[in-house]
Amino acid sequence: MSLLQVNGLTIKDSQTNQLLVEQIHFQVDSGETLGIIGESGSGKTITCRALTGINDPRLVVTGDIQFDGKPILKLPESALKQHRGRDIAMIMQQGSRAFDPSTRVSKQMIETMRVHTKMSKKAIVTTLIHYMAYMKLKQPKQILQSYPYMLSGGMLQRLMIVLALALKPKLIIADEPTTALDTITQYEVLKAFADIKKQFDCALIFISHDLAVINQIADKVIVMKNGQLVESGSRDSVLYQPQHAYTQYLLSTKRKVNQHFQRVMRGETNA
Ligand SMILES: Nc1ncnc2c1ncn2[C@@H]1O[C@H](COP(=O)(O)OP(=O)(O)OP(=O)(O)O)[C@@H](O)[C@H]1O
Ligand SMILES: [Mg+2]
Repeated sequence: MSLLQVNGLTIKDSQTNQLLVEQIHFQVDSGETLGIIGESGSGKTITCRALTGINDPRLVVTGDIQFDGKPILKLPESALKQHRGRDIAMIMQQGSRAFDPSTRVSKQMIETMRVHTKMSKKAIVTTLIHYMAYMKLKQPKQILQSYPYMLSGGMLQRLMIVLALALKPKLIIADEPTTALDTITQYEVLKAFADIKKQFDCALIFISHDLAVINQIADKVIVMKNGQLVESGSRDSVLYQPQHAYTQYLLSTKRKVNQHFQRVMRGETNA
């Protein structure tokens, strides 16, 4: 059985009765990376938040989510709390907002680690510094002593990735985790992320608008549109032989942007 099996996942806004996600299904095995692509508002984030039960209570989630043999939608809040962070770590779309501005980042990261592991404070700091080097965060001690406002969005995003890796969960959910990074850092961070993930056989769900990033990191891909799953399959089948018109459209717009970029770089046209 897969580590994560999602069947018939449906999310409804109880205030407007609007169906936001309809009958989604996918599965992820240990060590595997699932990429989720789809236009803004298609339901990628709320689908992932449903996996740890952190959606707004007005969003009613039905269907079946089995994680490591546990039926997530039937678990009480106390069991879900344990499951968050320890089993599944999330790197949020707005990574910088996850930090409390009035507390040093070291304190926040150490406290989170202490909730989920039995490591000593010293061992936690050593582990954090170890992963910070992978994430190209120089002067790690100085960064840990900082308040969030002293750090850039890209640095805070990388600290979120460090924390997710240090927790060694069974699954990491990364929601647009590299949007705050410049292209070179993005490449380095992604590479390090994929390497470390491989070391401990963690599963990964990676949401991104960037098809080049998905191409680089995913084993399989699902495509969402208006809350529905329009296509799923191996990375190569979805990205190179898309069957659904919407996936073809997504890929062709991306290709056009790339071709335009290449023409600009060759000096054939102005931006
Ligand atoms: N708390 C909420 N209450 C009501 N509707 C919500 C709530 N959160 C999200 N939605 C709605 O659910 C739909 C899906 O939102 P979601 O954030 O999952 O999209 P997304 O695919 O992640 O988009 P993006 O690529 O912009 O991040 C949207 O129509 C959004 O307005
Ligand atoms: Mg989103």
